[in-house]
Amino acid sequence: MHQYYISDSRRAVDAKFEAQKIAFAPIAFQAARALRDLGILDCVSKSGESGLVVSEVARSCGVSEYGAGVLLEMGLGMELVKLVSLEGEPRFVLGKVGFFVLEDDMTRANMDFTNDVCYNGAFFLEDSIRKGKPEGLKVLGSWPTIYEGLSKLSPKVQESWFRFDHFYSDVAFPEALPIVFSRKPARLFDIGGNTAKWAISACRHDPDVNVTIIDLPGQVEMALKNVAREGLSGRVDARPCNVLSTDAFPKGANAVWMSQFLDCFSLGEVTAISRKVADAVDADCDVYVLEPFWDKQRFEAASYSLQATSLYFTCMANGNSKMYRCQELVEAVSLGGLELREAHHNLGANAYSLLRFQKKR
Ligand SMILES: C[S@@+](CC[C@H](N)C(=O)[O-])C[C@H]1O[C@@H](n2cnc3c(N)ncnc32)[C@H](O)[C@@H]1O
Repeated sequence: MHQYYISDSRRAVDAKFEAQKIAFAPIAFQAARALRDLGILDCVSKSGESGLVVSEVARSCGVSEYGAGVLLEMGLGMELVKLVSLEGEPRFVLGKVGFFVLEDDMTRANMDFTNDVCYNGAFFLEDSIRKGKPEGLKVLGSWPTIYEGLSKLSPKVQESWFRFDHFYSDVAFPEALPIVFSRKPARLFDIGGNTAKWAISACRHDPDVNVTIIDLPGQVEMALKNVAREGLSGRVDARPCNVLSTDAFPKGANAVWMSQFLDCFSLGEVTAISRKVADAVDADCDVYVLEPFWDKQRFEAASYSLQATSLYFTCMANGNSKMYRCQELVEAVSLGGLELREAHHNLGANAYSLLRFQKKR
């Protein structure tokens, strides 16, 4: 799997080009976003194989010829656009990379998240590594971690955060639901229940289940509003709780659900949370963990996205968590007293693993 296991056979001249892509990466990123958001990629795409010259693009997108020209020329190096021929005035057509920047939902969710949530704070990545704190978070607000601020982020930042988060869970939840409900849990605790998306999906999937959402106070408020809007207040309740506090977890669950949740914590914290869960549940309670692991991805683009997402945790979210390798997370959970019983990999467009644990006997 992946480039990590093969020898470095790249020619020096190509490696040097890759190094320049890194050297100019923030500028290239902003150029790609401007090409997308000014409508330039769309306009070039609609021109088909005949392509457009700079002045036509400028007129159609309402930008200066200078502006269209510098962006399109940078777009060539990034292969967002290609030239129809080398003769005469350059005519630009859409490249394959440009197609994905323009049309692919995953690329859009990642780019908007990078721009709106991470871009300004990423400048403080090195500081964050040195201090073990999300030093970039100050550009969004003054909270110890992003989770305390999630319900207070500005609308655009919040929209990009949720679109990013939901983009991934949207594809995984439908495949996870039948696996979880094949064991018919009557009472399910959703730790890190966020907007109540899983709780609502679970109630729609199984008319008998009741769900308790456990999350930080700001989130719980938002979740309960969504639950009420769906007419499910009788079946979904919530417990405001910081899982890192010394408070014990409530008892009585037949199943515990933690989706894209443990990656918000360091491995030591994952063990502490798992211990709390183990202390609260009976031996036959199923504890589900849904996570995208970078070493279980089929596609290099997915591993790369997860490794980049780790750095969002470093500089924006909490300074100490990341997207994990499967085994390192399993080990941290089992140190807390939970034993792996079952693993389903490659759910949700190949990206997710669903792990089922039970309390160690
Ligand atoms: C990445 S979201 C995952 C949301 C949802 N489970 C999903 O799969 O889309 C992480 C959730 O964990 C919650 N969270 C983070 N730190 C927490 C803490 N210390 N105590 C309780 N909840 C926390 C956040 O508020 C957020 O709702």
